[in-house]
Amino acid sequence: MEKILVIGSSGQIGSELVLALRKIYGGENVYATDIKEPTEEISTSGPFDNLDVLDFNNLLHYVVRYKITQIYNLAAVLSGNAEKIPLQAWDINMKALMNTLEVAHKTDAKKLFWPSSIAIFGPTTPMENTPQLTVMEPNTVYGISKLAGERWGEYYHKRYGVDFRSVRYPGLISYKTEPGGGTTDYAVEIFFEAVKNGKYECFLSEDTALPMMFMDDAIHNTIKLMRADSSKLSIRSAYNMAGISFDPNGLANEIKKIMPGFEISYKTDFRQAIANSWPASINDEVARKDWGLEEKYDLRKLTATMLSKITEKIKRAGS
Ligand code: SER
Repeated sequence: MEKILVIGSSGQIGSELVLALRKIYGGENVYATDIKEPTEEISTSGPFDNLDVLDFNNLLHYVVRYKITQIYNLAAVLSGNAEKIPLQAWDINMKALMNTLEVAHKTDAKKLFWPSSIAIFGPTTPMENTPQLTVMEPNTVYGISKLAGERWGEYYHKRYGVDFRSVRYPGLISYKTEPGGGTTDYAVEIFFEAVKNGKYECFLSEDTALPMMFMDDAIHNTIKLMRADSSKLSIRSAYNMAGISFDPNGLANEIKKIMPGFEISYKTDFRQAIANSWPASINDEVARKDWGLEEKYDLRKLTATMLSKITEKIKRAGS
């Protein structure tokens, strides 16, 4: 019987991942934890506890007490926010990971998922069809912490047998819980602003192409990687995951097909430099071959789903 701990269950990924895991493993077997309030769906579908991943002893006791067998650790300060508080962001991102690696090493919770990111690449990386193994010289605090984290994950796997698994998420697009302080956040904000106001001022330039993925695909593949046969996994740092690549102009044009009056304008900020250092498109053939990475959402389907779900959500909130 699997007992699963999700750290960061009130965040953009966690709030959806918990619900998907509860469908598979049963509500009572998926322990949602965060230092932020949970969504209603999370608090009514199984256990939720306030747990600070930075507090090692509390984390250790929690894992032992509930006989946890798997951990998903999603707590992180995202790229844009991390640039505002570099040392704090480094401390938080690294300590959160090292605490869960140590707990995985010392307890029966041997299986650990921790997200890496396209942010591990940098300006010297080939920007198109970026391979799994390539030059990695990130120049953001977030990217440096993710790259260091990948190295530590692989180290704990080799040295202590921790079943560390990870993917390099592209920008994740979802309508349930918004991201906070990321460089790819424009691709979520744009949909909310389109539905609410019919226009959006974008903080990246119109031709800044980045890899992105709809949340359902991200969750499906994350769980698929965690359920894959261990012997099939040739990568114990993190797998490239491509999703779909587009720029703000391409996304705006897709929105205009459904909302012809939609208007976009551009006013770049400090996140432009971060985006410029990340690849435009990613090669994920290793993940496809090793564990069957697959996607259902292209740009058209993603756009239609986001607009209709956000419209429903806003109507419900107003009624
Ligand atoms: N979406 C994240 C960010 O923009 C990258 O992992 O920070």
